[in-house]
Amino acid sequence: MKFAPSNLFSLEGKVAAVIGGSGTLGSVFCRALGSAGAKVAVIGRSEEKAGTVAKSLAEEGIQAIGIAADATRKDRLEAACDAIVEQFGRVDILVNAPGVNSSTPFFEITEDEWQHIMDSNLKSVFLACQVFGRRMIDQGEGGSIINISSASSGPPLSKVFTYGVSKAGLNNLTQWLAREWAPYKIRVNALAPGFFPAEQNRKSLSPERVADILRHTPMGRMGEPEELAGTIIWLASDAASGFVTGALIRVDGGFSAMTI
Ligand SMILES: NC(=O)c1ccc[n+]([C@@H]2O[C@H](COP(=O)([O-])OP(=O)(O)OC[C@H]3O[C@@H](n4cnc5c(N)ncnc54)[C@H](O)[C@@H]3O)[C@@H](O)[C@H]2O)c1
Repeated sequence: MKFAPSNLFSLEGKVAAVIGGSGTLGSVFCRALGSAGAKVAVIGRSEEKAGTVAKSLAEEGIQAIGIAADATRKDRLEAACDAIVEQFGRVDILVNAPGVNSSTPFFEITEDEWQHIMDSNLKSVFLACQVFGRRMIDQGEGGSIINISSASSGPPLSKVFTYGVSKAGLNNLTQWLAREWAPYKIRVNALAPGFFPAEQNRKSLSPERVADILRHTPMGRMGEPEELAGTIIWLASDAASGFVTGALIRVDGGFSAMTI
């Protein structure tokens, strides 16, 4: 059997929805999927930001639309999914990359803060999988769902308690859907990035924290968002088709492999 790597990784003819697509990592995921040939729907809470990312993709020759939707609202996700199908005819790839974070000390975490983080990071992914997963099952041609997890999903990371719990839940959700949806040829995987400076972690990355992280990262540096592009394209494409499902792929400069 001969392999043609360029075809294996091609996303020509595919349609991708990226939730949190106007964020630091999300916008790179959009560009990566679009560069591999997919049509891209950038979904974010702000219409303006989603539109700006879609416009910059279009300037690079990528077919893209920006859609405003709060991913904690099922009705908004359904409207977003309908808009994508109306525009592009189908949905093959879903990337779940919404995220909020906080380093509030454990005993000071309020119920409201807990709920906000769990809703933004986990309920959103549950709802998006219901809405877009239903669509993929009805299309009958399989699909790829990529949930953005985190190094904090286990073993637990200091400071970011609720965030870590939400990401641990996301790993379980990923494996659960992988086993349930394998018969439909829908692959469900998680990508766990290490540390990439972004909006949601800006406040928690003090100089001391960064020094701790770098001491614990064999590669000795933070990640560049573009370093996640290859993994996203691989997981979305035929290169991972068939047998890659229920996996947690860590891209973290070796952070998770490090002990003293
Ligand atoms: N940056 C890192 O080091 C890192 C590491 C591990 C995991 N992650 C994860 O990567 C993903 C992207 O985060 P980022 O680092 O690019 O941060 P970011 O703050 O730049 O992007 C997060 C995006 O999620 C959007 N969002 C939040 N709640 C939403 C909601 N209810 N509906 C729709 N959109 C919503 C925000 O508007 C923002 O655009 C998140 O899931 C985050 O937890 C990031």
